[in-house]
Amino acid sequence: MSPVALSALLAAAAASGILAQTTYPSVAPLVDHTYSAYSDLPYKVIPTAGDIRGPQTGYSICNSTTANQESECQVSIVNTIDDFCLWSSPTPNNTIGDSEAYEVAWCTKDGHGTRVIPPGTLQGVQYLYTSQYIMIVGFLDQTKLNLLSNDSGGELDPHGADLYGNPIGGLVWSNQYPTGNTNNASLTQITEWTEFIGSGTFCIKICNPSVTSPDNVGLCQNVYDEIGINYNCPSQPTNGTFEVCDADPMSPVGQYVSNGVTTTWTQPWSGVIDPPYTPTVPASSNCRTYASSALYTDNAQAAPTTTSSGTSSTPAPTSGGSTGATRSSGTGSPSPTSGSSASGAPSATHISLIAIIAGVAFTVLCMA
Ligand SMILES: *[C@@H]1O[C@H](CO)[C@@H](O)[C@H](O)[C@H]1NC(C)=O
Ligand SMILES: *[C@@H]1O[C@H](CO)[C@@H](O)[C@H](O)[C@H]1NC(C)=O
Ligand SMILES: *[C@@H]1O[C@H](CO)[C@@H](O)[C@H](O)[C@H]1NC(C)=O
Ligand SMILES: *[C@@H]1O[C@H](CO)[C@@H](O)[C@H](O)[C@H]1NC(C)=O
Ligand SMILES: *[C@@H]1O[C@H](CO)[C@@H](O)[C@H](O)[C@H]1NC(C)=O
Repeated sequence: MSPVALSALLAAAAASGILAQTTYPSVAPLVDHTYSAYSDLPYKVIPTAGDIRGPQTGYSICNSTTANQESECQVSIVNTIDDFCLWSSPTPNNTIGDSEAYEVAWCTKDGHGTRVIPPGTLQGVQYLYTSQYIMIVGFLDQTKLNLLSNDSGGELDPHGADLYGNPIGGLVWSNQYPTGNTNNASLTQITEWTEFIGSGTFCIKICNPSVTSPDNVGLCQNVYDEIGINYNCPSQPTNGTFEVCDADPMSPVGQYVSNGVTTTWTQPWSGVIDPPYTPTVPASSNCRTYASSALYTDNAQAAPTTTSSGTSSTPAPTSGGSTGATRSSGTGSPSPTSGSSASGAPSATHISLIAIIAGVAFTVLCMA
């Protein structure tokens, strides 16, 4: 049986309560692994797994000895426009579909015990601060993060078919939602997040962990992988521009108003994926633009041996404070997934979902 089919079978069987716990993983789902302090992280969050995808390939204790371009650190930090990480492949010429389970953190700053995003990777970045989440979207040369140039990519999130996440055991932490009760008080675990990367674009969205309304889950939804960045991260970044803006929160993915009635569309598990609405880009304001050279000062140090724990302050806006930059009118919006994009969108999760159906059928057969 193929790995996908077996893992999906286990997930489906567990979901339907058919298999006993001895068969299904005894390790809790990734979202249940919560830590009050960054310094409490274990070497591996998912050290073993009853699923054949596992265990976690890298590690969750990341420090100066793991800060190099071969790092297998699987803790991502998402703070500011000049200090964030993206999940991508540890090995060259890969795809997100093939590497989603074992991706590692690539960060703009040295000092997180990770790989550093190489110079010239980020081509345009928009950092959107909302009351519900922080979202960083933009353009990149994905070959510098070990992805094939033609990879249309996919979604990474803390769920996945077996609930161990993509990457397995991958955690996201941020200093933007401090709770003040941790050893490293500046960092808080982000339990709900989502990343899209592919077709020369990326989006990472972290949902405010203190917002517990249903909207919070909705805004970091993980079940709309096939419809890509435009639907999951509605925004209007401009290629070549680096800016920080305030923004209104998006509507939950899938939710739209038709004839005055709010309706929710759910991505089907197979067949034609054709959302019945066009996403609306929320209003944004107070945009400030920066020179990339002022933001990504550690990129030049993307050599295996450099380490640094320095924290630099946010660079001054190039356009003069908060009255700054004009907002672009949207022609630069990433569009790899617009319109008929469903077929170009990631397929890995989709395949898993189809396999779950097959897995359920297979299980029923075995039980009969
Ligand atoms: C640094 O990280 C490595 C890899 O996770 C770990 O084995 C080591 O114990 C850490 N060192 C310290 C001083 O925490
Ligand atoms: C990746 O692909 C490029 C371009 O085809 C090639 O030059 C390079 O050798 C490949 N690297 C590896 C490690 O396969
Ligand atoms: C807290 O964690 C951040 C991110 O890894 C690190 O840069 C910083 O040095 C840590 N601070 C302390 C006091 O450990
Ligand atoms: C993408 O490029 C690789 C390497 O050049 C090639 O093997 C593969 O077939 C291409 N994939 C698609 C979907 O075009
Ligand atoms: C963004 O701009 C860079 C540099 O001009 C270009 O190479 C790249 O193709 C652009 N990305 C997209 C998705 O248009």
